[in-house]
Amino acid sequence: MIDKKILQALLKKVETPFYVYDAQIIRENCSKLKNAFSKYYPDTEIHYAVKANNCPEVLRIIKNAGLGVDCSSPFELLISQKTGFKRSAIMYTGNYESPEDLDFALKYAGLINLDDISSFYRIKDLSLPEIVSFRINPGIGKGGFEGITTGGVDAKFGIPYEKALEAYKTAFRSGARRFGIHMMTGSNNLEPLYFAETTDKLMHIAGSIFSSLGVTPEYIDIGGGFGIPYTDDEVPLDIERTAELVCERFKANCSKFKFGNPVLRIEPGRYITGNAGVLVTKVTGKKESYRNYTGVDAGMNTLIRPALYNAFHRMETPFKKRTGHLKTDVCGRICENSDIFCRNIPLPLLDEGDIIVFRDSGAYGSTMSSNYNGRPRPGEIVTDSGKIIYLKERERLEKMVALHYEQDEQKP
Ligand code: LLP
Repeated sequence: MIDKKILQALLKKVETPFYVYDAQIIRENCSKLKNAFSKYYPDTEIHYAVKANNCPEVLRIIKNAGLGVDCSSPFELLISQKTGFKRSAIMYTGNYESPEDLDFALKYAGLINLDDISSFYRIKDLSLPEIVSFRINPGIGKGGFEGITTGGVDAKFGIPYEKALEAYKTAFRSGARRFGIHMMTGSNNLEPLYFAETTDKLMHIAGSIFSSLGVTPEYIDIGGGFGIPYTDDEVPLDIERTAELVCERFKANCSKFKFGNPVLRIEPGRYITGNAGVLVTKVTGKKESYRNYTGVDAGMNTLIRPALYNAFHRMETPFKKRTGHLKTDVCGRICENSDIFCRNIPLPLLDEGDIIVFRDSGAYGSTMSSNYNGRPRPGEIVTDSGKIIYLKERERLEKMVALHYEQDEQKP
């Protein structure tokens, strides 16, 4: 929970809604992952998935913690480079990559995971990457919601594993001699065994590909997907046990297939920033209709996860005690009936202007926000040991309007 004093100070300085990230928690999450994996396999490299949270200060903290990045667009590549990540620490994993995407990837990323054989043909026309790595769909996948399950027969990502050998053979025939392999099968998983089983599956796929090619892979990337609890009932992912199980299978398969010591790569997003952030909102209106509604100044334009996946974010009312409560739906101001954060939740009796804080909003919060209904994107603040170290205000209406009409001046 965000410190009340900092929150009070922020509310005097910044207009709601805004996200607040805690630098100490981000650093702790980085260390937990690093320590767990390097204990069981020292050649592990961690690439933070920039799509989870791309706040400049957050990227700086992650860089200083010694992690690399995984990018999914030219914009993410550019900001990673601007943050100071070395080319060798920047990875690119896209899907249905355009020639423009691939051109950016070749320029800024030291490592590229290609989504398909057709991506290989497109990149080859530009230049052959130093290492050829394909994203494989191992035929299995699991995620917190259907929309975030990224492996298995209904997933749009990667090469079906049955076709993977052909892709690598094509790359080999085109002159590629250095290889990696990649998968990302789902997000927000909380069971250690899931990671071990999918790793095992990918290693077997890798085993048959690389032994038939007569080469060894330089890296094996098992993706991200390390989950966090969003409710009081969910058990946090045991990261130490996850690392132990994954590395056990990884090492056993490395010796079985005579891979030597390839780099084990992981791409966590949510695990690093999810529980380090909150969204601070203000009550703008209350209504007694067929149901009770409490409207706040954030909505699906600010935090889309509830509307998109039916995700739940715990709410807190730091300045109102839980005496006398009301069951209410909490909603935003967007003109869609899916703009509901939660139905029928007991909250203290709130007045207009009261604060509601949404927990665990540090991943896929701000990065998925939009200007829908012409609403400004939220502010972002980073605190470190009680101090504000980064402050970006909510988007300004005048700027939005100016940008909207910028094009008019260039009319043919
Ligand atoms: N690597 C790749 C290639 C990915 O596509 C993703 C996430 C990650 C790594 C990081 O996954 P994580 O460790 O954060 O699970 N918007 C959804 C999550 C979508 C995840 C998409 N890919 C949400 O709000 O839950």
